[in-house]
Amino acid sequence: MSYKGKFRVWRGEGGEGRLEDFTVEVNEGEVVLDVIHRLQATQAPDLAVRWNCKAGKCGSCSMEINGKPRLGCMTRMSTFTEDETITVTPMRTFPVIKDLVTDVSYNYQKAREIPSFTPPKDVKPGEYRMQQIDVERSQEFRKCIECFMCNNVCHVIRDHEENKTHFAGPRFLMRIAELDMHPYDVADRKDSAQEDHGLGYCNITKCCTEVCPEHIKITDNALIPMKERVVDRKYDPLVWLGNKIFRR
Ligand code: SF4
Ligand code: F3S
Ligand code: FES
Repeated sequence: MSYKGKFRVWRGEGGEGRLEDFTVEVNEGEVVLDVIHRLQATQAPDLAVRWNCKAGKCGSCSMEINGKPRLGCMTRMSTFTEDETITVTPMRTFPVIKDLVTDVSYNYQKAREIPSFTPPKDVKPGEYRMQQIDVERSQEFRKCIECFMCNNVCHVIRDHEENKTHFAGPRFLMRIAELDMHPYDVADRKDSAQEDHGLGYCNITKCCTEVCPEHIKITDNALIPMKERVVDRKYDPLVWLGNKIFRR
């Protein structure tokens, strides 16, 4: 079963662009990325779209479909009605390179700002012994495919470009939480989450969790527990006393 689908696709580069209308063949079982590829093959050979695995695992094909961040390769055409116009636009939080391809280097910059796993000096690789419960706690976060849709949708940077310098976004606050939960990590993650990476800007709107294609409970399992640990430290009477004595 095929039909003619109506698409409205954002085209442009260099800060300029517009939505263009297309009518494209859609076949049974296809996803949005299939139709974008047919559009390239038949009507718009210079249309830019980033993709790689077509299996929901590389995180490359993030785009906004009818205003919602989605993976193009995992969004089935059968979720739309045949007479619906499907609007496809690039992720809004990152600068557009061309058409549907955005410059996501903000995210890589934030990744670089987080010190890597820091084990105690006297423990050598191969000597780490972890409880199964500690392994399982962070397992969920390791499913991240770095599609950056959570960072794209978080209002702290989506609506405030100026916050990008001091807010790591949910993806990397989750990374800090993961490291902080690691029993062998000795770096100070709590102060740096709050002071260097903007954990306090997160007001738990949970939009990040809603769009995650890996269904990671970013807010409930990473950000809120991290906030709780930061607060615990701040109001821990021993830490408070230590700060009074040593910071005078
Ligand atoms: Fe994508 Fe989820 Fe990873 Fe965010 S946490 S980058 S939404 S896979
Ligand atoms: Fe942003 Fe997620 Fe917090 S969307 S405000 S990081 S809960
Ligand atoms: Fe890899 Fe869509 S092409 S996640």
